[in-house]
Amino acid sequence: MPAATLDEPETELRHAPAAATTASLPQRVVLTGFMGAGKSTVGTLLAQQLGWRFIDVDREIEERAGLPVQDIFARLGEFVFRRMETAAIAHALGERFAVIALGGGAPEVLANRLLLEQTPRTAVVLLEAPLQTLLARCDNQATGEYAPVRPILSDRASAEERFRYRGPLYRRVARHVVQTDGRTPSQTADDVARTAGLDLHTV
Ligand code: S3P
Repeated sequence: MPAATLDEPETELRHAPAAATTASLPQRVVLTGFMGAGKSTVGTLLAQQLGWRFIDVDREIEERAGLPVQDIFARLGEFVFRRMETAAIAHALGERFAVIALGGGAPEVLANRLLLEQTPRTAVVLLEAPLQTLLARCDNQATGEYAPVRPILSDRASAEERFRYRGPLYRRVARHVVQTDGRTPSQTADDVARTAGLDLHTV
């Protein structure tokens, strides 16, 4: 499925900004960053604020596979997971007026970076925090109500290696960077909206 289906008629649009003022504004916000960056939490809040659809790529993969992420890793392996991830990202980028939360490893794959770069009117925003903060957030989630199991975190040393390896890739793919340390999810959602030019005064 091609990434950009921008000329197709809108079918499920909930909140379309007035056309005259918005010709150059993004029509999708994509959140990237390491595990624990807050992509899903902030993305949900931002989508609510904008009246846009929220798409969590991990959840899309799980629905398509009929398996949770950790089972896809365990039974089919990371390579197959990454293939599914690319298909889910391509599909998500076909939507307009959507906030899309990527999985933390998505920018490792060249095809994903190309899809993100080449889909017009797409603001890719990196949510950044120090590794210590990210790992602490993941640990807190692991005991909370929303408790994703993250296979990549099972080996902390290699997770740290991936963090270092991914740093430049996140920055290459993102047009904007938002610092999240010490910010609440709702403050971060405001920061993302502002940096993408979508704060509520302009939409
Ligand atoms: C992964 C991050 C996860 C999920 C999968 C692999 C990674 O997403 O896609 O477990 O490689 O960093 P979150 O970043 O939403 O936890």
